[in-house]
Formats: sequence, structure tokens, C-alpha cells
Amino acid sequence: MNEITLSPLDHAIAAKMTVPGDKSISHRAVIFSSLAKGTSHVSNFLAGEDCMRTIQVFRELGVEIEQSSTELVIKSEGIASLKEAERPVYFGNSGTTARLVTGVLAALPLFTTCYGDDSLAKRPMDRIVLPLQQMGAKIDGRCEGSYLPLAIHGTSLQGITYDMPVKSAQVKSAILLAGMLSSGETTIIEQVKTRDHTEQMLPQFGVDLTVKDRKVTIQGGQEPVPADLTVPGDISSAAFFLAAAAIVPDSHITIKDVGLNPTRTGLIKALEMMGADILVKETRRIGGEPVGNVEIKYKELSGAHIEGELIPSLIDELPILALVATQANGKTIIGDAGELRVKETDRIAAVAQVLTSFGAEVEEKQDGLIIQGKSSLKGTVVDSYMDHRIGMMIAIASLIAEGKTVLTNGQCIDISYPGFFKDLESLKK
Ligand code: S3P
Repeated sequence: MNEITLSPLDHAIAAKMTVPGDKSISHRAVIFSSLAKGTSHVSNFLAGEDCMRTIQVFRELGVEIEQSSTELVIKSEGIASLKEAERPVYFGNSGTTARLVTGVLAALPLFTTCYGDDSLAKRPMDRIVLPLQQMGAKIDGRCEGSYLPLAIHGTSLQGITYDMPVKSAQVKSAILLAGMLSSGETTIIEQVKTRDHTEQMLPQFGVDLTVKDRKVTIQGGQEPVPADLTVPGDISSAAFFLAAAAIVPDSHITIKDVGLNPTRTGLIKALEMMGADILVKETRRIGGEPVGNVEIKYKELSGAHIEGELIPSLIDELPILALVATQANGKTIIGDAGELRVKETDRIAAVAQVLTSFGAEVEEKQDGLIIQGKSSLKGTVVDSYMDHRIGMMIAIASLIAEGKTVLTNGQCIDISYPGFFKDLESLKK
């Protein structure tokens, strides 16, 4: 078992830094480029394990993808040229790869079998399989298509209107991609707007769609054309260092060139609700994505209610926000976040167990957490649950915990943030 020993910080943090490219945008850049006939270029790609799975899948389908660190050159002969993978396709730990790629493969005349790691095998796939079946898809899978492995008998699909019961950008994107490759029109109606990188990026590849409030409509029979893209820094990775400055007294951090898409910046709103001293400055737009700098200075925080429409815009940041809440005065209530139970691990149970073992007061609810601050944390031996965001939350907690913290299975952090420990060490200088 991999073990990392972490020590507390003995001084305030003063740092200006960047974080690696956005995970959601990197996946989409590879998928859309692979469907576009010609050569596309992607800069600042996130070369983490999840996005590398998406690259590997499209290589197996016959797309030529050259990778040099964070630069990609993707050469595709277009949708019609994709070939059947000779082996079962492996999605690893990546829910985004699994859901979006299944949406594509369901609509192409190819047979594919696919599977994932132990975590992905437990995550629900019926949320995409059922609407794809309504479009005419032929997909078999474990527990009647509810879980991987899946066998996808790609075929011609028909557009649908889909009132999406889950708040999920992966589901929305899977149906939009299938819709783009179907006949007729596909409309998705969301209860709450989820991250909209697919809607922002498809037009960069020449694909038309219309967005009206919570309704997205795409016409079938469209083929993307190549594009050149730069991926902004991942706000979900920046979140760990913003949180570090929020909990280590007298700290000051600026994170530069980070994506500020409003469907992703819920953490900034939540920190403001807790009283944080935080400044956001948009400096430019890349494609449809606003990009800029986020500066945070340590300040005493108070508990807040984090729930409702805010949740999808900070869903991946809730573990680290829960840690921040242990250092805020009073009670923080996180609600309407039942989706956390079906992430890389059950993040409600994992966060409650991890923070309790550090000595925090945390109560688990069916759809969230109640955290009573402010607690003094004590170093402990604690596992990542093989979940990258739980692993990073533990590493940030270690900065303020008394004594040593031993993180086991921290290697999973490479899923979304290769170089995390190097960046963490640089704060200690
Ligand atoms: C993602 C959407 C979210 C998020 C995940 C990435 C995406 O998942 O948690 O890390 O790239 O579309 P859901 O769509 O399941 O909410």
C-alpha cells in the first residue's frame, strides 16, 4: 500500500501559482477532435489518468493522437472512419469517459464492449443507457444495463426530448453527442443548469446548438470540423489551494489562468457566503470559456447553508469545502447533494469518516453533511478511499493538523492532478 507522510505548515502561505488544465474540458477536446475530419491541436491538456483513458479509447478506435506533455495533435479521418476496437475498451476510473464515449458509440455502426475499474463498476450507467435506449440504442450491460461492463451494438438513433431526472453534465453531454449523430432533433431539459462545457465547445468545432435557459437543442446529422483549443486551468484543482489559504492563518494565494465558467464557480460563491476575502478577475475568454485569476486572503469564516441550485456548480468541490467548514465558526449545512454518493466513492460517507478521524464534528445526512466548527484537527492515518478528491482534501487538512498525517493510497491523486504533491511542497518553502 502506498503511504505518504505529511507534516503541518509552520508558516503562512504566500504563493502565486497555476494549476493543470481542466479535466472536463480536456476530455471533451479529445472526443470532439476525434470526431472531426482533419487535424486539431489542444494546448494545456490535462495529462492525468482520467483524460489519458479518453485518449486511449480513441486510439483504439483508430484516431491518431500525438501527445507531448500537455500538447496534443489529433488527426482523424472523421466519424465514418472510426473502426471497431479489437479488445474491450477500458474506461479506468473515469465516469466522464464512460458516459460521453457511450453516447458516441451508441450512434455509430460499431460493436464495442467496455468496462472500468472497481469504482467505476459501482457507478450508475442506467442514467445514460435508458435515454439512449429511448433514442433506439442497443446496449446490454450488467444488471440490465445499469452498470459496466456494457456491450454497445451501435446503430442509427432518433432524436428525443429528454427531461433529465438527474443533475448531471455527463448525462446531458452523452445525449447531446448521441443527438448530434442521430436523425432529427434532440432537446434536453435540465432541472438545474449543470456545467456547460459541451455547449460552449461544440460550436468551436462548427456544430450548431441552441441554449435557452435550461433547454439545449441540437440537430442530428452534424459532423464536427477540426479546431485548435487551449484548456484553462481547472477550478476544481485550484479549489484545494484556495481552501489552503482559507484555513491557514495569514495566508495569501493567487491562482492564475483558471477557468471561471459560471457553471463551475460555486465554490467561490460558497466561500464568499462564509465571509472569505476573495477576488476574481476575468482576464480573457478562450472559446466560450471565461478565464482569469482568483486571489484569496485568509480571514475568519462563518458557517453557511450550501444547498439548492448552487450544488451542481460546486459538486466536485464539496469534499474540500467540508474541510473548510471545520475551520469556520458555527454550523455549515450541505444539502441537496445526494449525487455525492455515486461519485468515485460515496463522498458523503468518506468525507464524514475522514474529517471525524481528524477530530472534526461532522454528521452524515442522506443528501449531505452537517459540520460544526471550529475544530482543532489532529494528524491521523487515513485512506483516500482511492478517490483523488478525498486524497487531496486529506493532504490540505494535514497543513493545519497537529502532528503527522499518514495518507494511504494517495497515488489516485494522479487521476486529476498530476504534480499535486510538488505544488503542495512549493507552499512549504
Ligand atoms: C463532469 C460532470 C460531473 C462531475 C465530473 C465531471 C463532466 O459529473 O462530477 O467530475 O465532465 O461532465 P456528473 O455529470 O455525474 O454530475
